[in-house]
Amino acid sequence: MTVQRRTFVAAAALAMAGITLPAFAAKPLVIGFSQVGAESEWRTANTVSIKDAAKKAGVTLKFADAQQRQENQVKAIRSFIAQKVDVIAFSPVVESGWDTVLREAKAAKIPVILTDRDVNVADKSLYVTLIGSDFVEEGRRAGRWLVDYAKKQPGKTLNIVELQGTVGSAPAIDRKAGFEEVIKGNPQLKMLRTQTAEFTRAKGKEVMEAFLKAHGKNINVLYAHNDDMAIGAIQAIEEAGLKPGKDIVIVSVDGVRGAFEAMMQGKLNVTVECNPLLGPLLMQTAKDVVAGKPVQKRLVVEERVFPAEVAAKEFPNRKY
Ligand code: AHR
Repeated sequence: MTVQRRTFVAAAALAMAGITLPAFAAKPLVIGFSQVGAESEWRTANTVSIKDAAKKAGVTLKFADAQQRQENQVKAIRSFIAQKVDVIAFSPVVESGWDTVLREAKAAKIPVILTDRDVNVADKSLYVTLIGSDFVEEGRRAGRWLVDYAKKQPGKTLNIVELQGTVGSAPAIDRKAGFEEVIKGNPQLKMLRTQTAEFTRAKGKEVMEAFLKAHGKNINVLYAHNDDMAIGAIQAIEEAGLKPGKDIVIVSVDGVRGAFEAMMQGKLNVTVECNPLLGPLLMQTAKDVVAGKPVQKRLVVEERVFPAEVAAKEFPNRKY
């Protein structure tokens, strides 16, 4: 008979005799989570998902907002180590510069789970797994949509401007690479300008204004690494007296509600989904890791592409 079975039989016998045992208060799992910040609609949905999932899973969550700064994340991770949490999870602002602090976590025997964004470390044993999207594929999907769009206007050259995410971050690096891979060598598609707008609406507007000042009506396409920058750019395009979605075709990434609203208004042409609802998978993975169960090194979430034509139909189903 197993220990659990013996305990159950003994407890059942005592219950029949009218004696109750004090309930075993299982110690809740403690996760220290360092979030990038609150730069976008996507990020807000990601934070809500993690906090809600922790509550539902009975996990004690120590949450720290890094306000887009790597040094804040390093400080938060060191503080989680000092507090001896069971698991450290974080979404890294940028890819490089993590070796030292992750070695400290390993020396303290605290497993590290990456969510959303990857790190660039030589020793992959410094983290258990990465849960999140395939950003290169998202960039390819954006590129493929544009290649198909260009095919419908044979002979026409399309000048592209690109709003990149945070410099050095995995989604900015990978979405750029995936997009370039697909449009490379296409005689119709020409990259005019590319610049970071840090994944925010305010910067998206500001950088798009500069693009418009320099190139005006020569811009045919905007590729934005996230919806927030696209939404900021839409404002700049309208203020310049042009029609977003028509005079300038807009391709962006995330699939947040704001993007669906813009598509329904005819101001955005397509959004490539990036799923922020990573909370439940993070909680389950953390429990598995602590229980010593094997975990895959990479857990990729399912995603789709939403062109403007399906926006009204899909909008009621959107969860973020
Ligand atoms: O890392 C995911 C990216 O970060 C999202 O695309 C963007 O909106 C966020 O800020």
